[in-house]
Amino acid sequence: MAFVVTAGPTREHLDPVRFLSNPSTGRMGFAIARAAAMRGHDVTLVAGPVALRTPRGAKRIDVTSAREMLAAVMDAISCTADRPVVFVSTAAVADWRPAKCAPRKLKKGQMSAVLKLVRNPDILKTVSRRFAQNRKPLLVGFAAETGDPVAEARRKCREKGLELVVANDVTEKGAGFGTTTNHVTIVRRDGTAERLPMMTKTAVARRIVRECEGLCP
Ligand code: PMT
Repeated sequence: MAFVVTAGPTREHLDPVRFLSNPSTGRMGFAIARAAAMRGHDVTLVAGPVALRTPRGAKRIDVTSAREMLAAVMDAISCTADRPVVFVSTAAVADWRPAKCAPRKLKKGQMSAVLKLVRNPDILKTVSRRFAQNRKPLLVGFAAETGDPVAEARRKCREKGLELVVANDVTEKGAGFGTTTNHVTIVRRDGTAERLPMMTKTAVARRIVRECEGLCP
């Protein structure tokens, strides 16, 4: 099988030295890429700006913005020939970007107190819509929540046409951004939810890769 995995944050620049982003370190996504490569799958890892070593056996493509991430993902999926493809979207993609990016550092006096933003593309939704049914990858999303992770994950599963959503409450200690562990609930397309115990991101990754293997023909 082929796995295309996104990891880390995106950065949305308003000039060469300022950007909008989030605290994702890429650990969760790199763990999935490593687990899939160790199971013998062909892995492309599309990484936002992170400071992690490339997992052995994975092909890595570094990107900065959401639009670059989308282009790299579409290319990677298109290059997978006739094999079954799994797309695992662990990246914390910025939903918005500044409407303009200045080519040079803005002086304080040139900046307004109000920043105009425009929507970024939704990578999962785009992949779900662009590929014909017989070429559509198995889609796995993550849900970084601060409220009711399972209800939100069910909504995202429906809205984005996903097979699985891995929900984590990012306010919980030991879960979410920057930790070596995670506490997740796997929500499936049929609405069933399975709460896993707190475990390392490596163990969560192995579990998700096995679940994907079970779902692919
Ligand atoms: O990188 P770490 O420090 O290890 O942290 C891991 C993590 C907290 C980033 C990870 O476990 C996680 O929850 N990733 C998803 C974060 C997120 O952006 O969630 P969301 O609820 O905003 O998005 C839902 C899904 O849509 C995600 O699969 C996301 O990749 C995808 N998405 C979101 C926005 C967008 N424009 N395009 C997308 O494809």
